[in-house]
Amino acid sequence: MSDSPSAATTSSPRRALVTGAAGFIGSHLAHALLQTGTTVIGVDRRDPAREQTAATNMAALHGLPGYMHITADLLTCAIDPLLIDADVIFHLAGIPGVRPSWGPQFSEYVNANILATQRLMDAATRMHVPRLVVASSSSVYGPTNGGPSVEGDHPRPASPYAVTKLAEEQLCLAHASRADCPTSVIALRYFTVYGPRQRPDMFTHRALHAAMTGEPLRLYGDGHQRRDFTYIDDAVAATISAAGAPIDTGIVNVGGGANASLLDVINIANRLAGREIQIYADNVRNGDVLTTRADPRRAQSVLGWQPTVDLPTGMRAQMQALAQPAYRKAA
Ligand code: NAD
Ligand code: UGA
Repeated sequence: MSDSPSAATTSSPRRALVTGAAGFIGSHLAHALLQTGTTVIGVDRRDPAREQTAATNMAALHGLPGYMHITADLLTCAIDPLLIDADVIFHLAGIPGVRPSWGPQFSEYVNANILATQRLMDAATRMHVPRLVVASSSSVYGPTNGGPSVEGDHPRPASPYAVTKLAEEQLCLAHASRADCPTSVIALRYFTVYGPRQRPDMFTHRALHAAMTGEPLRLYGDGHQRRDFTYIDDAVAATISAAGAPIDTGIVNVGGGANASLLDVINIANRLAGREIQIYADNVRNGDVLTTRADPRRAQSVLGWQPTVDLPTGMRAQMQALAQPAYRKAA
Protein backbone atom coordinates (compact mmCIF):
# COMPACT_ATOMS: atom_id res chain seq x y z
CA MET A 1 0.00 0.00 0.00
CA SER A 2 1.24 3.48 -0.72
CA ASP A 3 0.78 5.89 2.19
CA SER A 4 -0.11 8.95 0.16
CA PRO A 5 0.65 12.10 2.16
CA SER A 6 -2.27 13.84 0.51
CA ALA A 7 -5.14 14.51 2.89
CA ALA A 8 -8.02 12.04 2.99
CA THR A 9 -11.16 13.35 1.38
CA THR A 10 -13.61 14.50 4.00
CA SER A 11 -16.67 14.25 1.77
CA SER A 12 -19.14 11.50 2.68
CA PRO A 13 -20.28 8.83 0.26
CA ARG A 14 -23.56 9.38 -1.57
CA ARG A 15 -24.93 5.90 -1.01
CA ALA A 16 -23.61 3.20 1.33
CA LEU A 17 -24.37 -0.32 2.48
CA VAL A 18 -23.66 -0.90 6.18
CA THR A 19 -23.56 -4.57 7.12
CA GLY A 20 -24.08 -5.34 10.82
CA ALA A 21 -26.23 -2.20 11.14
CA ALA A 22 -28.07 -3.58 14.19
CA GLY A 23 -24.76 -4.05 16.01
CA PHE A 24 -22.74 -1.76 18.26
CA ILE A 25 -20.37 -0.15 15.75
CA GLY A 26 -22.64 -0.55 12.70
CA SER A 27 -25.58 1.28 14.27
CA HIS A 28 -23.39 4.25 15.27
CA LEU A 29 -21.83 4.31 11.80
CA ALA A 30 -25.20 4.26 10.02
CA HIS A 31 -26.41 7.14 12.17
CA ALA A 32 -23.28 9.22 11.56
CA LEU A 33 -23.48 8.64 7.80
CA LEU A 34 -27.10 9.79 7.73
CA GLN A 35 -26.12 12.98 9.56
CA THR A 36 -23.72 13.80 6.73
CA GLY A 37 -26.34 13.22 4.02
CA THR A 38 -25.43 9.71 2.91
CA THR A 39 -28.28 7.41 1.89
CA VAL A 40 -27.81 4.21 3.89
CA ILE A 41 -29.03 0.67 3.45
CA GLY A 42 -28.44 -1.30 6.64
CA VAL A 43 -28.45 -5.08 6.70
CA ASP A 44 -28.30 -7.37 9.72
CA ARG A 45 -29.44 -10.87 10.53
CA ARG A 46 -30.77 -9.74 13.91
CA ASP A 47 -34.34 -8.50 13.66
CA PRO A 48 -34.92 -5.32 15.68
CA ALA A 49 -38.61 -6.25 15.91
CA ARG A 50 -37.68 -9.40 17.82
CA GLU A 51 -34.37 -8.74 19.58
CA GLN A 52 -34.11 -6.15 22.31
CA THR A 53 -30.39 -5.39 21.84
CA ALA A 54 -30.85 -4.84 18.12
CA ALA A 55 -33.91 -2.65 18.80
CA THR A 56 -31.99 -0.55 21.33
CA ASN A 57 -29.02 -0.19 19.00
CA MET A 58 -31.25 0.91 16.16
CA ALA A 59 -33.64 3.17 18.07
CA ALA A 60 -31.94 6.37 16.89
CA LEU A 61 -32.21 5.25 13.25
CA HIS A 62 -35.98 4.86 13.32
CA GLY A 63 -37.79 7.08 10.88
CA LEU A 64 -34.67 8.92 9.75
CA PRO A 65 -34.98 9.92 6.09
CA GLY A 66 -32.44 8.21 3.90
CA TYR A 67 -32.29 4.98 5.93
CA MET A 68 -33.61 1.59 4.83
CA HIS A 69 -33.17 -1.53 6.95
CA ILE A 70 -33.12 -5.12 5.70
CA THR A 71 -33.19 -8.08 8.08
CA ALA A 72 -31.21 -10.77 6.27
CA ASP A 73 -28.28 -13.13 6.67
CA LEU A 74 -25.36 -12.35 4.35
CA LEU A 75 -24.63 -16.05 4.21
CA THR A 76 -27.82 -16.75 2.28
CA CYS A 77 -29.52 -13.54 1.11
CA ALA A 78 -29.42 -11.98 -2.35
CA ILE A 79 -26.73 -9.33 -1.91
CA ASP A 80 -26.63 -7.77 -5.39
CA PRO A 81 -29.88 -5.77 -5.01
CA LEU A 82 -28.47 -4.14 -1.85
CA LEU A 83 -25.54 -2.81 -3.84
CA ILE A 84 -27.31 -0.99 -6.65
CA ASP A 85 -25.60 2.42 -7.00
CA ALA A 86 -23.58 1.92 -3.79
CA ASP A 87 -20.37 3.96 -3.60
CA VAL A 88 -19.09 2.04 -0.62
CA ILE A 89 -19.74 -1.01 1.54
CA PHE A 90 -18.93 -0.78 5.24
CA HIS A 91 -18.62 -4.42 6.27
CA LEU A 92 -19.19 -4.56 10.03
CA ALA A 93 -21.29 -7.74 10.14
CA GLY A 94 -19.53 -10.56 11.90
CA ILE A 95 -19.30 -12.62 15.05
CA PRO A 96 -17.04 -10.73 17.49
CA GLY A 97 -15.52 -11.76 20.81
CA VAL A 98 -12.25 -13.54 21.54
CA ARG A 99 -13.12 -15.96 24.34
CA PRO A 100 -16.26 -17.78 23.08
CA SER A 101 -14.50 -18.62 19.82
CA TRP A 102 -12.82 -21.67 21.38
CA GLY A 103 -16.22 -23.29 21.87
CA PRO A 104 -18.72 -24.99 19.62
CA GLN A 105 -19.69 -21.60 18.15
CA PHE A 106 -16.54 -21.63 16.05
CA SER A 107 -18.52 -22.65 12.98
CA GLU A 108 -20.59 -19.46 13.46
CA TYR A 109 -17.38 -17.42 13.35
CA VAL A 110 -16.29 -19.17 10.16
CA ASN A 111 -19.71 -18.72 8.55
CA ALA A 112 -20.12 -15.05 9.40
CA ASN A 113 -16.55 -13.79 9.26
CA ILE A 114 -15.24 -15.80 6.30
CA LEU A 115 -17.97 -17.40 4.20
CA ALA A 116 -20.36 -14.43 4.31
CA THR A 117 -17.45 -12.10 3.49
CA GLN A 118 -16.59 -14.18 0.44
CA ARG A 119 -20.20 -13.82 -0.79
CA LEU A 120 -20.08 -10.09 -0.15
CA MET A 121 -16.80 -9.60 -2.07
CA ASP A 122 -18.17 -11.61 -5.00
CA ALA A 123 -21.26 -9.39 -5.05
CA ALA A 124 -19.19 -6.20 -4.73
CA THR A 125 -17.17 -7.28 -7.75
CA ARG A 126 -20.26 -8.12 -9.82
CA MET A 127 -21.92 -4.85 -8.91
CA HIS A 128 -18.78 -2.74 -9.49
CA VAL A 129 -18.76 -1.18 -6.04
CA PRO A 130 -15.65 1.03 -5.95
CA ARG A 131 -14.74 0.56 -2.28
CA LEU A 132 -15.24 -1.78 0.65
CA VAL A 133 -14.17 -0.92 4.19
CA VAL A 134 -13.93 -4.05 6.32
CA ALA A 135 -13.82 -4.33 10.12
CA SER A 136 -10.68 -6.20 11.04
CA SER A 137 -9.29 -6.49 14.54
CA SER A 138 -6.26 -5.72 16.70
CA SER A 139 -6.46 -9.36 17.73
CA VAL A 140 -4.78 -10.41 14.47
CA TYR A 141 -1.44 -9.19 15.90
CA GLY A 142 -1.54 -11.69 18.79
CA PRO A 143 1.01 -11.45 21.61
CA THR A 144 3.39 -8.48 21.37
CA ASN A 145 6.35 -7.24 23.40
CA GLY A 146 4.20 -4.30 24.55
CA GLY A 147 5.40 -1.95 21.83
CA PRO A 148 3.10 -0.50 19.19
CA SER A 149 1.92 -2.86 16.44
CA VAL A 150 2.64 -1.70 12.91
CA GLU A 151 0.40 -2.83 10.06
CA GLY A 152 3.31 -4.66 8.40
CA ASP A 153 4.09 -6.75 11.52
CA HIS A 154 3.84 -10.49 11.11
CA PRO A 155 0.35 -11.45 12.39
CA ARG A 156 0.23 -14.12 15.11
CA PRO A 157 -3.47 -14.54 15.93
CA ALA A 158 -3.87 -16.25 19.32
CA SER A 159 -7.55 -17.24 19.21
CA PRO A 160 -9.91 -18.87 16.72
CA TYR A 161 -11.74 -15.53 16.47
CA ALA A 162 -8.52 -13.73 15.54
CA VAL A 163 -7.76 -16.38 12.92
CA THR A 164 -11.14 -15.71 11.29
CA LYS A 165 -10.59 -11.93 11.35
CA LEU A 166 -7.18 -12.34 9.72
CA ALA A 167 -8.75 -14.62 7.11
CA GLU A 168 -11.55 -12.09 6.57
CA GLU A 169 -9.27 -9.12 5.92
CA GLN A 170 -6.88 -11.15 3.76
CA LEU A 171 -9.79 -12.56 1.77
CA CYS A 172 -10.99 -9.04 0.98
CA LEU A 173 -7.46 -7.96 0.05
CA ALA A 174 -7.01 -11.03 -2.16
CA HIS A 175 -10.19 -10.17 -4.09
CA ALA A 176 -9.09 -6.56 -4.42
CA SER A 177 -5.70 -7.56 -5.85
CA ARG A 178 -7.32 -9.35 -8.81
CA ALA A 179 -6.96 -7.43 -12.05
CA ASP A 180 -10.68 -7.86 -12.76
CA CYS A 181 -11.89 -6.67 -9.35
CA PRO A 182 -13.12 -3.06 -9.40
CA THR A 183 -13.40 -2.87 -5.60
CA SER A 184 -10.58 -1.35 -3.55
CA VAL A 185 -10.42 -2.49 0.07
CA ILE A 186 -9.40 -0.76 3.28
CA ALA A 187 -9.18 -3.13 6.26
CA LEU A 188 -9.43 -1.27 9.57
CA ARG A 189 -7.90 -3.01 12.55
CA TYR A 190 -10.07 -1.64 15.37
CA PHE A 191 -8.64 -1.72 18.88
CA THR A 192 -11.21 -2.56 21.62
CA VAL A 193 -13.99 -0.08 20.88
CA TYR A 194 -16.09 1.24 23.79
CA GLY A 195 -18.81 3.81 24.43
CA PRO A 196 -22.63 3.90 24.44
CA ARG A 197 -24.22 0.61 23.26
CA GLN A 198 -20.96 -1.34 23.63
CA ARG A 199 -21.60 -5.09 23.55
CA PRO A 200 -22.48 -6.33 27.05
CA ASP A 201 -19.81 -9.07 26.95
CA MET A 202 -17.02 -6.47 26.82
CA PHE A 203 -14.97 -5.32 29.77
CA THR A 204 -15.78 -1.60 29.90
CA HIS A 205 -19.51 -2.36 29.84
CA ARG A 206 -19.12 -4.95 32.58
CA ALA A 207 -16.98 -2.68 34.77
CA LEU A 208 -19.46 0.19 34.50
CA HIS A 209 -22.39 -2.16 35.11
CA ALA A 210 -20.66 -3.51 38.24
CA ALA A 211 -19.90 0.00 39.49
CA MET A 212 -23.47 1.14 38.90
CA THR A 213 -25.25 -1.90 40.37
CA GLY A 214 -22.91 -3.24 43.05
CA GLU A 215 -22.83 -6.64 41.31
CA PRO A 216 -19.35 -8.26 41.30
CA LEU A 217 -17.03 -7.99 38.30
CA ARG A 218 -15.28 -11.12 37.10
CA LEU A 219 -11.65 -10.22 36.36
CA TYR A 220 -9.71 -12.63 34.16
CA GLY A 221 -6.09 -12.34 35.35
CA ASP A 222 -4.51 -9.61 37.47
CA GLY A 223 -5.94 -6.62 35.60
CA HIS A 224 -2.59 -5.52 34.21
CA GLN A 225 -3.68 -6.36 30.65
CA ARG A 226 -3.52 -3.18 28.57
CA ARG A 227 -5.78 -2.18 25.69
CA ASP A 228 -5.66 0.70 23.23
CA PHE A 229 -9.32 1.50 24.05
CA THR A 230 -11.00 3.39 21.18
CA TYR A 231 -14.06 5.58 21.70
CA ILE A 232 -16.95 4.73 19.38
CA ASP A 233 -17.23 8.20 17.79
CA ASP A 234 -13.53 8.11 16.98
CA ALA A 235 -13.86 4.63 15.45
CA VAL A 236 -16.80 5.85 13.34
CA ALA A 237 -14.91 8.94 12.15
CA ALA A 238 -11.98 6.77 11.05
CA THR A 239 -14.36 4.43 9.26
CA ILE A 240 -16.04 7.21 7.30
CA SER A 241 -12.63 8.64 6.38
CA ALA A 242 -11.64 5.25 5.00
CA ALA A 243 -14.44 5.46 2.43
CA GLY A 244 -12.73 8.40 0.79
CA ALA A 245 -9.09 7.69 1.61
CA PRO A 246 -7.04 8.50 -1.49
CA ILE A 247 -5.08 5.25 -1.49
CA ASP A 248 -5.36 1.92 -3.11
CA THR A 249 -5.97 -1.10 -1.02
CA GLY A 250 -4.48 -1.67 2.45
CA ILE A 251 -4.63 -2.12 6.21
CA VAL A 252 -4.91 0.67 8.79
CA ASN A 253 -4.85 0.54 12.62
CA VAL A 254 -7.66 2.34 14.42
CA GLY A 255 -6.47 2.74 18.01
CA GLY A 256 -7.77 5.24 20.56
CA GLY A 257 -4.35 6.00 22.05
CA ALA A 258 -5.48 5.02 25.57
CA ASN A 259 -2.83 2.40 26.44
CA ALA A 260 -4.70 1.80 29.70
CA SER A 261 -4.92 -1.29 31.91
CA LEU A 262 -8.06 -3.04 33.10
CA LEU A 263 -7.22 -1.72 36.59
CA ASP A 264 -7.28 1.82 35.13
CA VAL A 265 -10.77 1.10 33.75
CA ILE A 266 -11.88 -0.18 37.15
CA ASN A 267 -10.51 2.94 38.88
CA ILE A 268 -12.29 5.26 36.44
CA ALA A 269 -15.56 3.33 36.87
CA ASN A 270 -15.18 3.54 40.67
CA ARG A 271 -14.65 7.30 40.48
CA LEU A 272 -17.58 7.85 38.10
CA ALA A 273 -19.99 5.77 40.18
CA GLY A 274 -18.66 6.78 43.60
CA ARG A 275 -18.53 3.12 44.60
CA GLU A 276 -15.79 0.42 44.81
CA ILE A 277 -16.35 -2.44 42.38
CA GLN A 278 -16.36 -5.86 44.04
CA ILE A 279 -13.88 -8.01 42.11
CA TYR A 280 -14.23 -11.73 41.62
CA ALA A 281 -10.74 -12.96 40.62
CA ASP A 282 -10.69 -15.56 37.85
CA ASN A 283 -8.07 -17.17 35.59
CA VAL A 284 -6.61 -15.61 32.45
CA ARG A 285 -8.60 -16.81 29.46
CA ASN A 286 -7.06 -18.61 26.48
CA GLY A 287 -6.50 -16.30 23.54
CA ASP A 288 -6.39 -13.07 25.58
CA VAL A 289 -3.20 -11.12 24.96
CA LEU A 290 -1.47 -8.99 27.58
CA THR A 291 -1.25 -5.81 25.50
CA THR A 292 -2.72 -4.29 22.39
CA ARG A 293 -1.29 -0.99 21.19
CA ALA A 294 -1.67 0.62 17.79
CA ASP A 295 1.05 2.37 15.89
CA PRO A 296 -1.00 5.42 14.84
CA ARG A 297 1.10 6.72 11.95
CA ARG A 298 -0.67 5.12 9.02
CA ALA A 299 -4.10 6.21 10.29
CA GLN A 300 -2.80 9.76 10.44
CA SER A 301 -1.25 9.75 6.98
CA VAL A 302 -3.84 7.67 5.12
CA LEU A 303 -7.08 8.63 6.84
CA GLY A 304 -6.07 12.06 8.13
CA TRP A 305 -7.46 10.75 11.42
CA GLN A 306 -6.48 10.74 15.04
CA PRO A 307 -8.49 9.95 18.17
CA THR A 308 -10.04 12.83 20.10
CA VAL A 309 -11.77 11.26 23.12
CA ASP A 310 -9.81 10.14 26.20
CA LEU A 311 -10.83 7.17 28.33
CA PRO A 312 -12.39 9.00 31.32
CA THR A 313 -14.46 11.20 28.99
CA GLY A 314 -15.60 8.26 26.88
CA MET A 315 -16.43 6.14 29.91
CA ARG A 316 -18.49 8.96 31.38
CA ALA A 317 -20.56 9.07 28.17
CA GLN A 318 -20.95 5.28 28.26
CA MET A 319 -22.08 5.40 31.89
CA GLN A 320 -24.64 8.12 31.13
CA ALA A 321 -26.02 5.98 28.31
CA LEU A 322 -26.19 2.92 30.58
CA ALA A 323 -28.30 4.92 33.01
CA GLN A 324 -31.00 5.48 30.36
CA PRO A 325 -34.13 3.30 30.71
CA ALA A 326 -33.71 1.82 27.19
CA TYR A 327 -30.33 0.36 28.09
CA ARG A 328 -31.46 -0.97 31.42
CA LYS A 329 -34.26 -2.80 29.61
CA ALA A 330 -31.84 -4.30 27.04
CA ALA A 331 -29.20 -5.40 29.57
P1 NAD B 1 -21.88 -6.59 17.15
O1 NAD B 1 -22.07 -8.02 17.47
O2 NAD B 1 -22.53 -5.58 18.03
O3 NAD B 1 -22.32 -6.31 15.64
C1 NAD B 1 -22.15 -7.24 14.60
C2 NAD B 1 -23.48 -7.39 13.89
O4 NAD B 1 -23.28 -8.25 12.75
C3 NAD B 1 -24.58 -8.04 14.74
O5 NAD B 1 -25.70 -7.19 14.84
C4 NAD B 1 -24.90 -9.33 14.00
O6 NAD B 1 -26.27 -9.70 14.06
C5 NAD B 1 -24.46 -9.01 12.59
N1 NAD B 1 -24.16 -10.21 11.81
C6 NAD B 1 -23.34 -11.22 12.14
N2 NAD B 1 -23.32 -12.15 11.18
C7 NAD B 1 -24.15 -11.71 10.19
C8 NAD B 1 -24.55 -12.23 8.94
N3 NAD B 1 -24.09 -13.41 8.50
N4 NAD B 1 -25.42 -11.54 8.19
C9 NAD B 1 -25.91 -10.34 8.64
N5 NAD B 1 -25.56 -9.80 9.82
C10 NAD B 1 -24.69 -10.48 10.59
O7 NAD B 1 -20.28 -6.35 17.09
P2 NAD B 1 -19.43 -5.01 17.08
O8 NAD B 1 -18.72 -4.91 18.37
O9 NAD B 1 -20.27 -3.89 16.59
O10 NAD B 1 -18.34 -5.38 15.97
C11 NAD B 1 -18.57 -5.09 14.60
C12 NAD B 1 -17.40 -5.62 13.78
O11 NAD B 1 -16.19 -5.01 14.21
C13 NAD B 1 -17.19 -7.13 13.88
O12 NAD B 1 -16.81 -7.61 12.62
C14 NAD B 1 -16.04 -7.26 14.87
O13 NAD B 1 -15.28 -8.44 14.64
C15 NAD B 1 -15.24 -6.02 14.54
N6 NAD B 1 -14.43 -5.52 15.65
C16 NAD B 1 -15.05 -5.04 16.79
C17 NAD B 1 -14.28 -4.53 17.82
C18 NAD B 1 -14.89 -3.99 19.08
O14 NAD B 1 -14.13 -3.61 19.98
N7 NAD B 1 -16.23 -3.94 19.20
C19 NAD B 1 -12.88 -4.50 17.70
C20 NAD B 1 -12.30 -5.03 16.55
C21 NAD B 1 -13.09 -5.51 15.52
C1 UGA C 1 -12.38 -6.71 21.94
C2 UGA C 1 -13.63 -7.20 21.18
O1 UGA C 1 -14.46 -7.95 22.06
C3 UGA C 1 -13.25 -8.04 19.98
O2 UGA C 1 -14.42 -8.32 19.23
C4 UGA C 1 -12.28 -7.24 19.14
O3 UGA C 1 -11.90 -7.91 18.00
C5 UGA C 1 -11.07 -6.87 19.97
O4 UGA C 1 -11.50 -6.06 21.06
C6 UGA C 1 -10.05 -6.09 19.18
O5 UGA C 1 -9.51 -5.10 19.68
O6 UGA C 1 -9.76 -6.46 18.06
P1 UGA C 1 -10.96 -7.69 23.90
O7 UGA C 1 -9.73 -6.88 23.79
O8 UGA C 1 -10.86 -9.07 24.44
O9 UGA C 1 -11.72 -7.84 22.51
O10 UGA C 1 -11.95 -6.77 24.74
P2 UGA C 1 -12.86 -7.09 25.98
O11 UGA C 1 -13.82 -8.17 25.64
O12 UGA C 1 -13.39 -5.81 26.48
O13 UGA C 1 -11.79 -7.68 27.05
C7 UGA C 1 -10.68 -6.91 27.46
C8 UGA C 1 -9.97 -7.61 28.61
O14 UGA C 1 -10.87 -7.70 29.72
C9 UGA C 1 -9.54 -9.05 28.31
O15 UGA C 1 -8.27 -9.28 28.88
C10 UGA C 1 -10.58 -9.91 29.04
O16 UGA C 1 -10.09 -11.14 29.49
C11 UGA C 1 -10.94 -9.02 30.22
N1 UGA C 1 -12.31 -9.28 30.73
C12 UGA C 1 -13.38 -9.22 29.90
C13 UGA C 1 -12.47 -9.56 32.08
O17 UGA C 1 -11.50 -9.61 32.86
N2 UGA C 1 -13.72 -9.78 32.54
C14 UGA C 1 -14.83 -9.74 31.73
O18 UGA C 1 -15.96 -9.95 32.21
C15 UGA C 1 -14.65 -9.45 30.36
